[in-house]
Amino acid sequence: MSKKTIEVSIPFLSGNEKNYLEECIKSNYVSSIGPFVNQFENKLANTIGLKPDQITTTNSGTSALKLALIASGIKRDDLVIIPSYTFIATANAISDCGGVPWIMDVLPESLTLDFNLVEEEIASKTFMKDGQIFHKELNLRVFGIVPVHVFGYAPELEEIIKLGKKYNLNIIADAAGGLGSLYKNKKLGLTVNSGIVSFNGNKIITSGGGGMFFSNDRKIVERVKHLASTARLTSNYIHDQIGFNYRISNLHAAVGLAQIENFKTILERKLQISNQYKKYLNNPKINFFLSGKNSKSSNWLNAISFNNLFSGFNIDDFLKYMQINNINIRHYWRPIFLQPPYIKCPRSSQEICSNIYKNVIVLPSSSNLSEEEVKYISNKINSYIQ
Ligand SMILES: Cc1ncc(COP(=O)(O)O)c(C=O)c1O
Repeated sequence: MSKKTIEVSIPFLSGNEKNYLEECIKSNYVSSIGPFVNQFENKLANTIGLKPDQITTTNSGTSALKLALIASGIKRDDLVIIPSYTFIATANAISDCGGVPWIMDVLPESLTLDFNLVEEEIASKTFMKDGQIFHKELNLRVFGIVPVHVFGYAPELEEIIKLGKKYNLNIIADAAGGLGSLYKNKKLGLTVNSGIVSFNGNKIITSGGGGMFFSNDRKIVERVKHLASTARLTSNYIHDQIGFNYRISNLHAAVGLAQIENFKTILERKLQISNQYKKYLNNPKINFFLSGKNSKSSNWLNAISFNNLFSGFNIDDFLKYMQINNINIRHYWRPIFLQPPYIKCPRSSQEICSNIYKNVIVLPSSSNLSEEEVKYISNKINSYIQ
């Protein structure tokens, strides 16, 4: 094998990215107005099973989530239920709106939100008043639930949506890493009322930086669009509320469009890589984190943990060993309840997440990873744990 370092997830820029960027420069459309924004949005809408007016792009997944919360009516000091196993942006978007994350444990097989636990927590810790639930001890309204897609597959959306109906909660999916996933064989936009996607550099497709909000409620999409454009009403600089400069630029949309044009190939590559890992890491000591029976993964990332490890096993030593072998894997998400800004937030017991998170190993999964590289990585892992 070459001495080249193998990263976890790097962009796969193999289509029209360069041509489209050149077009932006030639035409002078480099900012938030330009033809690539609409073209990117049209393709995105189609990819997730919606119409173009049911989605809007933003400059990041975080800003899309923040605007989704505002457009759905979050108020200062509202509680928002989230899983503990997520990237910190989920919690940050809520805090940025003045909300407070209510952090719940996850399911051991998929690391997605434990909906049964959510129901238990709601039943024991809240009361209903005027059609809304409030946390008894904190006396704060519960605004909604933000379930999170993990490694390219969906949480148990139907169960979560049922909770939303029962307790009158907004459900906004943080599908930052969920593009290309199916739930009950349905495309992302048809699985949940509202959600967001990220096009950050490590995602299944990237626009260099960017995000998308989608909803089957066109009025909310309009609101998000308006808020992302400084809430400007007219060309005379009249703004009807506090808005933000969160639109995607034509430059970013140009890269995003080239990427989404290649999405079929990318999904095929991801599936091949995932199958190769399953073949070469077919070892009883290795556990793959997999979507439940209802979700089909895009295979954006492949993640494993080790079963019944020998005494003295230390994940940091393992990661060092992989790095010495030019495989640049590191710890993945640190749960939200352990993050300094969120230590005091309300939370359920964290039995599952606190035990598992340190042993989650996200394998290199870039679309251009060769079978030879997958074999090399797998051989290194197998020889370490034998
Ligand atoms: C679960 C999750 N939520 C939100 C985000 C935020 O997306 P962005 O980086 O585009 O702001 C990310 C990713 O980066 C993520 O993984």
